[in-house]
Amino acid sequence: MIKVAFYDTKPYEKEWFESFAEKYGISVKYMESKLSEDTAVLAKGCSAVCAFVNDEIDKNAIDVLVSLGISLIAMRCAGYNNVDIKYAKDKISIVRVPAYSPYAVAEHAVAMLLCLNRKLHKAYIRTRDYNFSLNGMTGFDLHQKTVGVVGTGKIGRVFAEICRGFGMKIIAYDPYPSDESLEYANFESICKKADIISLHCPLTKENKHIINKESIELMKKGVFIINTSRGALIDSDALIDGLMSKKIGYAALDVYEEEGDVFFEDMSDVPDRDEKLATLLSMPNVIITSHQAFLTNEALENIAVITLENIKEFFESGKCKNEIQS
Ligand code: NAI
Repeated sequence: MIKVAFYDTKPYEKEWFESFAEKYGISVKYMESKLSEDTAVLAKGCSAVCAFVNDEIDKNAIDVLVSLGISLIAMRCAGYNNVDIKYAKDKISIVRVPAYSPYAVAEHAVAMLLCLNRKLHKAYIRTRDYNFSLNGMTGFDLHQKTVGVVGTGKIGRVFAEICRGFGMKIIAYDPYPSDESLEYANFESICKKADIISLHCPLTKENKHIINKESIELMKKGVFIINTSRGALIDSDALIDGLMSKKIGYAALDVYEEEGDVFFEDMSDVPDRDEKLATLLSMPNVIITSHQAFLTNEALENIAVITLENIKEFFESGKCKNEIQS
């Protein structure tokens, strides 16, 4: 049996891993702690660790894992901006799940667009209170609106396809255009022309805060911004200023740049709150979900199966098709 230390365990993922692990000859030690330099030692006795989006896999954490003889970090997600992959090179291998359900994330982006535009979040609360007034509930037709898709990989393309079904005009920005059916433009044009901008690119050093004071200034008044990718693609201060000045009409966020310590947890009893997050949450034209765009049964099953396959393949052959190359 290959022993794997599973960090930041949540019940909705544990059930899927539990139902498949034995079949792959893997025994899993489930732990609630996030992986960091302080908790890496908990993996003692295991051959691999399994980590998620908000684990902190920096130099120090890697050093501890290596000192314990651990040879594999199996990310159960697509993104790996939280791993120091340069430092890991030649010390420890890293594998990931490059795709598990682009539909889950793209559909969530569309759900947030519809919900915030048509005020479903308010209607749900109002009608439960027997309040049937329509004041303040006006939305806009998506039909014929221009949506700017930033990043046209697996998720961005599914998102564009759904938007096409609504009769929207689609323009896209991607440094590596890959879809001949899409009209590509540079990022500046997307900012100038789009009524709705949806982010579907990975977070890199180059595109950190791609939505910032300058790019917001280029945008149409009342622009609708959707981010289901990574929080740090947006400069939160600039976003708040844009919302306050009404330059930005709506923000639908599944991710937030400082989400690490709060998302996925019940923090309702904690009075010490991140001020920017609290400000955003107080705004009527902002909707925030807790990095849940991936959360469908289909995605969870694929994540479990592909992660377990990655681990098995690595320990059987010493390599894995889903290994991250630094
Ligand atoms: P992908 O790798 O298939 O596509 C990413 C695309 O972004 C590629 O076409 C790439 O060329 C493009 N790109 C790279 N840098 C760019 C830039 N600066 N500007 C515009 N485009 C750029 O990735 P996939 O599967 O479509 O995922 C996209 C992102 O979605 C992931 O990187 C991750 O951050 C996020 N994600 C969020 C989830 C959630 O639950 N909220 C779940 C899964 C992914």
